[in-house]
Amino acid sequence: MDPKPPLQDRARRIRLKALYECDEEALDRMRLIRNHPQVRSFMYNDQEFDQDTHRRWLNAQYNNADNAIYGAFVDDVLQGSIGLIGIDPVNRHAEWGFYISPQLQGQGLGEAMLFNMLDLAFGVHPVDKVNSEVIEYNTGSLAVHDRLGFVKEGRRRNHKLRDGAPHDAILLGITRQEWAARRSQLIENGNG
Ligand SMILES: CC(C)(COP(=O)(O)OP(=O)(O)OC[C@H]1O[C@@H](n2cnc3c(N)ncnc32)[C@H](O)[C@@H]1OP(=O)(O)O)[C@@H](O)C(=O)NCCC(=O)NCCS
Repeated sequence: MDPKPPLQDRARRIRLKALYECDEEALDRMRLIRNHPQVRSFMYNDQEFDQDTHRRWLNAQYNNADNAIYGAFVDDVLQGSIGLIGIDPVNRHAEWGFYISPQLQGQGLGEAMLFNMLDLAFGVHPVDKVNSEVIEYNTGSLAVHDRLGFVKEGRRRNHKLRDGAPHDAILLGITRQEWAARRSQLIENGNG
Protein backbone atom coordinates (compact mmCIF):
# COMPACT_ATOMS: atom_id res chain seq x y z
CA MET A 1 0.00 0.00 0.00
CA ASP A 2 1.23 3.55 -0.76
CA PRO A 3 2.51 5.51 2.24
CA LYS A 4 0.02 7.98 3.65
CA PRO A 5 0.48 11.62 2.62
CA PRO A 6 1.71 13.92 5.42
CA LEU A 7 -0.88 14.64 8.09
CA GLN A 8 -1.24 18.30 7.17
CA ASP A 9 -1.94 17.40 3.53
CA ARG A 10 -4.62 14.96 4.69
CA ALA A 11 -6.01 17.59 7.06
CA ARG A 12 -6.27 20.09 4.20
CA ARG A 13 -8.61 17.70 2.32
CA ILE A 14 -11.05 17.79 5.21
CA ARG A 15 -13.41 20.65 5.91
CA LEU A 16 -15.58 20.68 9.03
CA LYS A 17 -18.89 22.44 8.43
CA ALA A 18 -21.40 23.34 11.12
CA LEU A 19 -24.75 21.57 10.64
CA TYR A 20 -26.50 24.71 9.38
CA GLU A 21 -23.91 24.88 6.56
CA CYS A 22 -24.70 21.31 5.38
CA ASP A 23 -27.37 20.76 2.74
CA GLU A 24 -30.12 18.14 3.04
CA GLU A 25 -28.29 15.61 0.86
CA ALA A 26 -25.21 15.84 3.07
CA LEU A 27 -27.29 15.55 6.23
CA ASP A 28 -28.96 12.39 4.98
CA ARG A 29 -25.58 10.98 3.98
CA MET A 30 -24.52 11.61 7.57
CA ARG A 31 -27.43 9.43 8.74
CA LEU A 32 -26.58 6.61 6.32
CA ILE A 33 -22.90 6.59 7.37
CA ARG A 34 -23.89 6.71 11.07
CA ASN A 35 -26.20 3.71 10.49
CA HIS A 36 -23.51 1.57 8.82
CA PRO A 37 -22.82 -1.51 10.99
CA GLN A 38 -19.07 -0.80 10.88
CA VAL A 39 -19.75 2.60 12.40
CA ARG A 40 -22.65 2.11 14.78
CA SER A 41 -21.21 -1.01 16.44
CA PHE A 42 -18.43 1.23 17.80
CA MET A 43 -20.66 4.12 18.89
CA TYR A 44 -22.00 4.55 22.41
CA ASN A 45 -25.52 4.52 21.03
CA ASP A 46 -25.62 1.71 18.48
CA GLN A 47 -29.23 2.10 17.37
CA GLU A 48 -30.16 2.64 13.73
CA PHE A 49 -31.73 6.07 13.04
CA ASP A 50 -34.68 6.52 10.70
CA GLN A 51 -35.21 9.81 8.86
CA ASP A 52 -37.65 11.23 11.44
CA THR A 53 -35.40 10.45 14.39
CA HIS A 54 -32.41 11.93 12.56
CA ARG A 55 -34.41 15.07 11.75
CA ARG A 56 -35.46 15.48 15.39
CA TRP A 57 -31.85 15.03 16.49
CA LEU A 58 -30.67 17.63 13.95
CA ASN A 59 -33.36 20.09 15.05
CA ALA A 60 -32.26 19.66 18.65
CA GLN A 61 -28.66 20.50 17.69
CA TYR A 62 -29.30 23.85 16.01
CA ASN A 63 -28.84 26.65 18.57
CA ASN A 64 -27.83 24.12 21.22
CA ALA A 65 -24.87 25.74 22.98
CA ASP A 66 -24.08 22.47 24.80
CA ASN A 67 -23.02 20.71 21.60
CA ALA A 68 -21.10 21.69 18.46
CA ILE A 69 -21.55 19.06 15.76
CA TYR A 70 -19.88 19.24 12.34
CA GLY A 71 -20.21 17.45 9.05
CA ALA A 72 -16.77 16.25 7.90
CA PHE A 73 -16.34 16.83 4.17
CA VAL A 74 -13.54 15.07 2.31
CA ASP A 75 -12.94 16.70 -1.07
CA ASP A 76 -16.35 18.40 -0.67
CA VAL A 77 -18.38 15.24 -0.02
CA LEU A 78 -19.72 14.54 3.47
CA GLN A 79 -17.85 11.46 4.69
CA GLY A 80 -18.31 11.61 8.44
CA SER A 81 -19.12 13.68 11.44
CA ILE A 82 -17.33 14.95 14.50
CA GLY A 83 -18.39 17.16 17.34
CA LEU A 84 -18.14 18.34 20.90
CA ILE A 85 -20.85 17.22 23.27
CA GLY A 86 -21.67 18.63 26.70
CA ILE A 87 -19.56 21.76 26.38
CA ASP A 88 -19.07 23.08 29.90
CA PRO A 89 -17.85 26.68 29.68
CA VAL A 90 -17.52 26.95 33.46
CA ASN A 91 -15.12 24.05 33.86
CA ARG A 92 -13.94 24.46 30.25
CA HIS A 93 -14.21 20.89 29.00
CA ALA A 94 -16.27 18.81 26.57
CA GLU A 95 -16.59 15.22 25.34
CA TRP A 96 -16.22 14.41 21.69
CA GLY A 97 -17.64 11.87 19.30
CA PHE A 98 -16.88 11.06 15.66
CA TYR A 99 -17.01 8.62 12.79
CA ILE A 100 -15.89 8.39 9.20
CA SER A 101 -17.33 6.41 6.30
CA PRO A 102 -16.13 2.76 6.28
CA GLN A 103 -15.11 3.24 2.62
CA LEU A 104 -12.50 5.81 3.70
CA GLN A 105 -11.23 4.21 6.89
CA GLY A 106 -7.58 3.22 7.16
CA GLN A 107 -6.25 6.04 4.94
CA GLY A 108 -5.27 8.41 7.71
CA LEU A 109 -8.33 10.59 7.16
CA GLY A 110 -9.88 9.85 10.56
CA GLU A 111 -6.67 11.00 12.23
CA ALA A 112 -6.71 14.15 10.07
CA MET A 113 -10.36 14.85 10.94
CA LEU A 114 -9.55 14.62 14.66
CA PHE A 115 -6.49 16.86 14.13
CA ASN A 116 -8.74 19.54 12.60
CA MET A 117 -11.33 19.14 15.35
CA LEU A 118 -8.77 19.59 18.13
CA ASP A 119 -7.58 22.81 16.47
CA LEU A 120 -11.19 23.97 16.26
CA ALA A 121 -12.03 22.89 19.82
CA PHE A 122 -9.16 24.81 21.36
CA GLY A 123 -9.35 27.61 18.78
CA VAL A 124 -13.01 28.63 18.92
CA HIS A 125 -14.82 26.77 21.69
CA PRO A 126 -14.69 27.61 25.42
CA VAL A 127 -12.74 24.50 26.41
CA ASP A 128 -9.25 23.76 27.73
CA LYS A 129 -9.74 19.98 27.80
CA VAL A 130 -11.33 17.44 25.45
CA ASN A 131 -12.45 14.14 26.97
CA SER A 132 -13.34 10.89 25.27
CA GLU A 133 -14.85 7.51 26.13
CA VAL A 134 -14.10 4.53 23.93
CA ILE A 135 -15.51 1.01 24.16
CA GLU A 136 -12.60 -1.29 25.01
CA TYR A 137 -12.78 -3.32 21.78
CA ASN A 138 -12.50 -0.23 19.55
CA THR A 139 -8.79 -0.66 18.85
CA GLY A 140 -8.87 1.72 15.88
CA SER A 141 -10.25 4.60 17.90
CA LEU A 142 -7.88 3.91 20.81
CA ALA A 143 -4.92 3.93 18.41
CA VAL A 144 -5.94 7.24 16.88
CA HIS A 145 -6.43 8.83 20.31
CA ASP A 146 -2.99 7.59 21.32
CA ARG A 147 -1.38 9.03 18.20
CA LEU A 148 -2.94 12.41 18.85
CA GLY A 149 -1.60 12.50 22.40
CA PHE A 150 -4.66 11.67 24.50
CA VAL A 151 -3.81 10.42 27.99
CA LYS A 152 -5.55 7.34 29.35
CA GLU A 153 -7.28 8.43 32.54
CA GLY A 154 -9.26 5.42 33.60
CA ARG A 155 -11.56 2.56 32.82
CA ARG A 156 -15.26 2.44 33.59
CA ARG A 157 -16.01 -1.21 34.11
CA ASN A 158 -18.95 -3.02 32.51
CA HIS A 159 -20.22 0.26 31.09
CA LYS A 160 -21.79 -0.85 27.79
CA LEU A 161 -23.84 -3.93 27.01
CA ARG A 162 -23.39 -5.33 23.51
CA ASP A 163 -25.37 -8.43 22.58
CA GLY A 164 -25.88 -9.02 26.27
CA ALA A 165 -22.15 -8.87 27.09
CA PRO A 166 -20.74 -6.07 29.26
CA HIS A 167 -17.75 -4.06 28.01
CA ASP A 168 -15.52 -1.56 29.77
CA ALA A 169 -15.19 2.03 28.58
CA ILE A 170 -11.72 3.57 28.38
CA LEU A 171 -11.60 7.19 29.60
CA LEU A 172 -9.19 9.51 27.82
CA GLY A 173 -8.44 13.22 27.78
CA ILE A 174 -6.17 15.88 26.32
CA THR A 175 -5.51 19.39 27.60
CA ARG A 176 -4.91 22.51 25.53
CA GLN A 177 -1.19 22.43 26.51
CA GLU A 178 -0.83 18.74 25.70
CA TRP A 179 -2.38 19.30 22.28
CA ALA A 180 -0.09 22.26 21.54
CA ALA A 181 2.96 20.09 22.32
CA ARG A 182 1.73 17.01 20.46
CA ARG A 183 0.63 19.04 17.46
CA SER A 184 4.13 20.47 17.01
CA GLN A 185 5.64 17.00 17.36
CA LEU A 186 3.30 15.53 14.75
CA ILE A 187 4.21 18.29 12.32
CA GLU A 188 7.95 18.18 13.06
CA ASN A 189 8.41 14.42 12.85
CA GLY A 190 7.13 14.24 9.31
CA ASN A 191 3.63 13.05 10.08
CA GLY A 192 2.50 16.60 9.58
C1 LIG B 1 -12.01 5.63 14.52
C2 LIG B 1 -11.97 6.14 13.10
C3 LIG B 1 -12.51 7.56 13.01
C4 LIG B 1 -10.48 6.13 12.65
O1 LIG B 1 -10.42 6.63 11.34
P1 LIG B 1 -9.52 5.97 10.24
O2 LIG B 1 -9.52 6.88 9.06
O3 LIG B 1 -9.95 4.57 10.01
O4 LIG B 1 -8.09 5.95 10.96
P2 LIG B 1 -6.71 6.38 10.33
O5 LIG B 1 -6.52 5.73 9.01
O6 LIG B 1 -6.59 7.86 10.41
O7 LIG B 1 -5.70 5.70 11.35
C5 LIG B 1 -4.78 6.40 12.10
C6 LIG B 1 -3.97 5.41 12.90
O8 LIG B 1 -4.83 4.73 13.83
C7 LIG B 1 -4.49 3.37 13.89
N1 LIG B 1 -5.62 2.54 13.47
C8 LIG B 1 -6.67 2.90 12.71
N2 LIG B 1 -7.56 1.90 12.62
C9 LIG B 1 -7.05 0.88 13.34
C10 LIG B 1 -7.52 -0.41 13.67
N3 LIG B 1 -8.70 -0.88 13.21
N4 LIG B 1 -6.75 -1.20 14.45
C11 LIG B 1 -5.58 -0.74 14.94
N5 LIG B 1 -5.10 0.49 14.67
C12 LIG B 1 -5.82 1.30 13.89
C13 LIG B 1 -3.29 3.19 13.09
O9 LIG B 1 -2.18 3.44 13.96
C14 LIG B 1 -3.37 4.30 12.08
O10 LIG B 1 -2.16 4.71 11.59
P3 LIG B 1 -1.09 3.75 10.85
O11 LIG B 1 -1.90 2.78 10.04
O12 LIG B 1 -0.36 4.72 9.99
O13 LIG B 1 -0.28 3.14 11.92
C15 LIG B 1 -12.77 5.23 12.11
O14 LIG B 1 -12.21 3.95 12.10
C16 LIG B 1 -14.24 5.13 12.45
O15 LIG B 1 -15.03 5.99 12.06
N6 LIG B 1 -14.65 4.07 13.15
C17 LIG B 1 -16.05 3.80 13.46
C18 LIG B 1 -16.67 4.78 14.43
C19 LIG B 1 -15.84 4.97 15.68
O16 LIG B 1 -15.18 4.07 16.16
N7 LIG B 1 -15.92 6.18 16.25
C20 LIG B 1 -15.22 6.52 17.48
C21 LIG B 1 -16.01 6.12 18.66
S1 LIG B 1 -15.06 6.39 20.15
